[in-house]
Amino acid sequence: MANSCRKLIFNIYLVFYCSAVIMPHICICSQFTSSPIDQFNKDPRAFPIATNGEIFPWHELRLPTVIIPLHYDLLIHPNLTSLDFVASEKIEVLVRDATQFIVLHSKDLEILNASLQSEEDVRYRKPGESLTVLSYPAHQQIALLVPEKLRADLRYSVAIDFQAKLADGFEGFYKSTYRTLGGETRTIAVTDFEPTEARMAFPCFDEPLFKANFSIKIRRESRHIALSNMPKVKTIELEGGLLEDHFETTVKMSTYLVAYIVCDFTSVSGTASSGVKVSIYASPDKWSQTHYALEASLKLLDYYENYFDIHYPLPKLDLVAIPDFASGAMENWGLVTYRETSLLFDPKKSSISDKLWVTKVIAHELAHQWFGNLVTMEWWNDIWLNEGFATYMELISLNITYPELQFGACILNMLKDFLSEDTFRKGIIHYLKKFSYRNAKNDDLWHSLSNNCLESDSASGGFCYSDSKKTSNTLAFQLAFLRKNVELKEMMATWTLQKGIPLVVVKREGRSLRLQQERFLSGVSKEDPEWGTLQERYLWHIPVTYSTSSSHAIHRHILKLKTDTLDLSEKTDWVKFNVDSNGYYIVHYEGQGWDELITLLNQNHTLLRPKDRLGLIHDAFQLVSAGRLTLDKALDLTRYLQRETSIPALLKGLEYLELLYRMVERRNISDVTENLKHYLLQYFKPVIDTQSWVDKGSVWDRMLRSTVLKLACYLNHAPCIQKATELFSQWMESSGKLNIPTDVLKVVYSVGAQTTAGWNYLLEQYELSLSGAEKNKILYALSTSKHQEKLMKLIELGMEGKVIKTQDLAALLFAIARNPEGQQLAWNFVKENWTHLLKKFDLGSFPIRMIVSGTTSHFSSKDELQEVELFFESLKAQGSHLDIFQIILETISKNIKWLEKNLPTLRKWLLITT
Ligand code: BES
Ligand code: ZN
Repeated sequence: MANSCRKLIFNIYLVFYCSAVIMPHICICSQFTSSPIDQFNKDPRAFPIATNGEIFPWHELRLPTVIIPLHYDLLIHPNLTSLDFVASEKIEVLVRDATQFIVLHSKDLEILNASLQSEEDVRYRKPGESLTVLSYPAHQQIALLVPEKLRADLRYSVAIDFQAKLADGFEGFYKSTYRTLGGETRTIAVTDFEPTEARMAFPCFDEPLFKANFSIKIRRESRHIALSNMPKVKTIELEGGLLEDHFETTVKMSTYLVAYIVCDFTSVSGTASSGVKVSIYASPDKWSQTHYALEASLKLLDYYENYFDIHYPLPKLDLVAIPDFASGAMENWGLVTYRETSLLFDPKKSSISDKLWVTKVIAHELAHQWFGNLVTMEWWNDIWLNEGFATYMELISLNITYPELQFGACILNMLKDFLSEDTFRKGIIHYLKKFSYRNAKNDDLWHSLSNNCLESDSASGGFCYSDSKKTSNTLAFQLAFLRKNVELKEMMATWTLQKGIPLVVVKREGRSLRLQQERFLSGVSKEDPEWGTLQERYLWHIPVTYSTSSSHAIHRHILKLKTDTLDLSEKTDWVKFNVDSNGYYIVHYEGQGWDELITLLNQNHTLLRPKDRLGLIHDAFQLVSAGRLTLDKALDLTRYLQRETSIPALLKGLEYLELLYRMVERRNISDVTENLKHYLLQYFKPVIDTQSWVDKGSVWDRMLRSTVLKLACYLNHAPCIQKATELFSQWMESSGKLNIPTDVLKVVYSVGAQTTAGWNYLLEQYELSLSGAEKNKILYALSTSKHQEKLMKLIELGMEGKVIKTQDLAALLFAIARNPEGQQLAWNFVKENWTHLLKKFDLGSFPIRMIVSGTTSHFSSKDELQEVELFFESLKAQGSHLDIFQIILETISKNIKWLEKNLPTLRKWLLITT
């Protein structure tokens, strides 16, 4: 279950990555224009007050740039019994401008002492001079005051001793526990730093631009192992039997990518073609679930080294399954950490979609080893460069490693289609080579992608395309380059700096195509008064593509204006825009356009490519929510699906139809619910009845089986319920030993969970199971119960955090809120236990956002909207404000409008059709 929720979170994520720039919860405030020292002398009151009452010499959230870190020596000693750690560090810094203080980040660390040595002191082994430490927790900063001004262009060594408790949550250096097969609970210590939590583990210059080398040493007991970004060089035995592991010095990297773990895990290893040692680590009893990840990561590492034409620069790569992990995975350089369900594959319990998820997450995090780790965004406002590219590379790499799967579109995919695959790849390589071990921003990427390179690149010995070298010094070349560069920059600015997605409205009049672009507004129709304001000043440069009935060619055009006209060379029966759904825009066909396409699909759907069919279904339902197409048209469009042989298109249609069903079911609109159920079961009977209950066939066959059987049983289809019940009983009788086919495991458990005996037995198995994949399926099944007291019991277990881990609480509440019988329960629980929830998760964290939106955004009545509004108001009054409040309220209002508008149409359509 957490898988699907991770997918959900990431989809939410993607919407941002693909449409706008994410700003983390840190802002850049710069109220002063002159230097801080001048300011300080002029007006000391403009500065904050440190915890000891003295003036803190720095007022900004961003650190000063007069001092930069070069190298960190870190010695860390976590105690897994007392659950704390003591540590010391030496940071070698370069002073760029004379200064009287050093400001760095530190959060919840107790600084024991700090001292300073000049290079000379270090050379002559002179002891360090003790420094005064001031602390300003509001900015998570400390300032070290030096007795004498540090001199420009000199290096100094700052030594700090510090200690802290291992953190309770999922950030910084935190503890995680797991249960062994024998029932023993064991503790490990692990780091998770992105974006700004390295400062919880050691005082540091915690901004991505401050890249440095790290030499890490970790003390541990002999029953444990220690892992870090780099391989271990040696282990020293200390007095009292403690061991101290020394790791090789890292390459230059940002603090958020540093990682270390002390645990008792076991591993499997292999070697990539380039000689890099790849290992998968998990708790000892889960060792048998690590093999698939090894196979996939070796394959993907080979693929990326070849695709980027850059060696993975470290000698080893470890992938570790962490028992308590807030998100899906984290790309720490050389030591990638994963939620167990994102890395482990249990051949007996993991379904094909679990396997795909694992492959996708590995592909994503390995792509970050180049995009993000080797080349890092200058500041968090360009985080989409990291995440957008890792997501894009997931698709590219999986299309090679799993060629039978073809994935969906995104802005970068559109750009690749526009520039051509080869140019795009060359541009990426150029960008990665040019900015290796450095930082880059948006514009640097567009610059690299502009097909050619500047003279300075070749002059500086940088990478340059072979074909452009010959001409790179001519004026014509330079002008052409500059033009392309500006064009691409302008185009990409329209995609990255504007929120949302464009809608292209097409109207065919004879041989002429009239195009018009708007901002696509779901839930706001053209008749609404706010429509005009929401459209103002939005304009994209859209590389549109289209095909027609009269030629197979792909026609291309860049739509830069609000309106434009294209002339067709021949008469045509239909036009389809956004070929292969490669573009990131929605298309609406005015006049007869949709009718022509519906007729085409019904007469011979194979005249359109499978991805075009999928795209039409997607656009049609999106247009219904924007009030541009009536629901009956979108439903008419799905009527060809009975003959659809492309599984992704069929799944897309089923997804929208199931959404419709769930919406009317939740609102208890019984006549429509019953008729829609009847329609779905009748209409898709052939596809339901041909499904077998085995793990056989292609990846897509298996995905279809899972989806169709889950839907059929959800709709109470008697043969489906009967088969699932039969398998569940056999499984119970075998004391959980029977192997049920993995793709139907979730549906079998869900049907089994509907009786009290089945539910109780599943809960017992949940506690015993060592497979995250199985646990997710059981938890989902338990959450579909119709009994309030059972659902409440689950929430209690989730809050307790023992049987159901805190990391799974958000997914659990989300699942209960999806259950019509649980929606009110989950919502009331969140309202009544808000302060308890905030003790477990930070206000702006993923889990809190998921809990709030998961338990509210499906509401679709005015009373519910009012209730949610009141709750949000009360939270704001308490100081708990979240940016998603507004989005959720808008979503509920849209749901209300959607139902008002489309329910009568749906009712009528069902009466005519069934
Ligand atoms: N680097 C991210 C996680 C992250 C992003 C942490 C921003 C903090 C701030 C990681 O690569 C990631 O994207 N993880 C995803 C999994 C991915 C495969 C979809 C996640 O955790 O949801
Ligand atoms: Zn990522």
